[in-house]
Amino acid sequence: MTTSVSIKDVSLNFGAVSVLKDLNLEINDGEFLVLLGSSGCGKSTLLNCIAGLLDVSAGQIHIKGKNVTWEEPKDRGIGMVFQSYALYPQMSVEKNLSFGLKVAKVPQAEIDKRVARASEILQIQPLLKRRPAELSGGQRQRVAIGRALVRDVDVFLFDEPLSNLDAKLRSELRVEIKRLHQSLKNTMIYVTHDQIEALTLADRIAIMKNGVIQQLSDPTTIYNQPRNLFVAGFIGSPSMNFLHGELTKSGDKLFFTANGVNFSLNGYEALEKLEAGRKVILGVRPEHIKVNEDLGPEQHDAVVDIEEPMGADNLLWLKHAGHVMSVRINGARRFKPGTPVKLSFDMTLASLFDATTENRL
Ligand SMILES: Nc1ncnc2c1ncn2[C@@H]1O[C@H](COP(=O)(O)OP(=O)(O)O)[C@@H](O)[C@H]1O
Ligand SMILES: [Mg+2]
Repeated sequence: MTTSVSIKDVSLNFGAVSVLKDLNLEINDGEFLVLLGSSGCGKSTLLNCIAGLLDVSAGQIHIKGKNVTWEEPKDRGIGMVFQSYALYPQMSVEKNLSFGLKVAKVPQAEIDKRVARASEILQIQPLLKRRPAELSGGQRQRVAIGRALVRDVDVFLFDEPLSNLDAKLRSELRVEIKRLHQSLKNTMIYVTHDQIEALTLADRIAIMKNGVIQQLSDPTTIYNQPRNLFVAGFIGSPSMNFLHGELTKSGDKLFFTANGVNFSLNGYEALEKLEAGRKVILGVRPEHIKVNEDLGPEQHDAVVDIEEPMGADNLLWLKHAGHVMSVRINGARRFKPGTPVKLSFDMTLASLFDATTENRL
C-alpha cells in the first residue's frame, strides 16, 4: 500500500500553548481517514497543518512522497471543504466552482469539463446560475464540495462539513460523501466530533484527545477493542457500562468482583494475561448484556428501572447490585418498570481496563 499523506513528528504551538505534540500519522492512498474527537482537541489544527493554512512548529508533512512542509496550500495537491462553506456570496454557483481554476489559468475548455463533471456528480446542475443566498444549507455544502472536486486533487480535506445541517440532511449528505469516495477513490481526511459519522464513513478512525491520537484502527476494532477507557467511553451511544471492581480468584478460576458479586470471566479474550488482586474497570456495551433469554450458566438478578422504547430497539435501565446499567434489546420486547429480570454478560465482547492506567488489559 502506498502512503498518501505522512505526518512526521508534527508539533504545533500557539504561543506557549502546545496543541499538537510529536504527532505521527500515515494515511494510505485512497483511504478514508476520520479524525475524531471532542471540540478543542486539535482536529482542525492538524487538518490546517496538512492543508498549509497553519505553519507547523516542528516536524514534517509529506504528500505523495514529497515534503510539502513549507509549500503554499495551492501547491500541495489538496482540496478543502469547511463547515462554513466559505462560498463567494456575489458569485453564481458556476462562478464559485470555476473561479479558482481561472485564477490558476486552467484553459476554459478544461474548466467547463470539470465544472460539468462535478455538478453532475453532486447533482447541482439546476443550481448553476443561482447565488449562494438562493441555496439551502445542503445545497451550499454540495457546492463547497464541488469546489474541491473541480480542482482534480489527490487529497480531500473535510472539516466538519455536515455540522451546520439539520439531522435529516446530515444523514443524506453523509451517504453522498461515502458514495463520492467509493466512486472517486481519492484519499479523504475528514474531521468530525460525531462518532456516527466516524463509524459509518471511515476506513480507519484516529481518535484524538488533547492533541494526542489515542487509537488508530478500523471502526470495528475501535468499537469492540477500545485501547483505553477514554476511547471506550467516547464511542457508543448510550455509553458502554463501566463497573469498578477487582480481579479475584476462586479455585483456579478468575472472576471480576464488584460490590460483592462475582462475574465469571470465561471467554474474555486476554484471560491468560490477567492476575488476581488487580483493580480494574469492566466495560460492557448495552447490546452485550442478555435479559431473560440465552442466559447461560451464570445469571444475575436485576430490576427494570426505566424503559426507553426507540422503535427498532428498546433501551432498558436496570438496577443490579448497586449499579445502573443500560441494556439494548429488540424493540418488540417490552418490560414494565419494577419487573425483576435475570441477566448475563457476554464476556467474549467485554473490555477490562486497569483502574490506574485506564489501559485495556
Ligand atoms: N489561532 C489560535 N490561537 C490560539 N489558540 C488556538 C488557535 N486556534 C486554535 N486554538 C486552540 O487550539 C486548540 C485546538 O483547536 P482546534 O484544532 O480548533 O480544535 P478542534 O478542531 O478539535 O475543535 C483549542 O484549545 C483552541 O482553543
Ligand atoms: Mg474544529
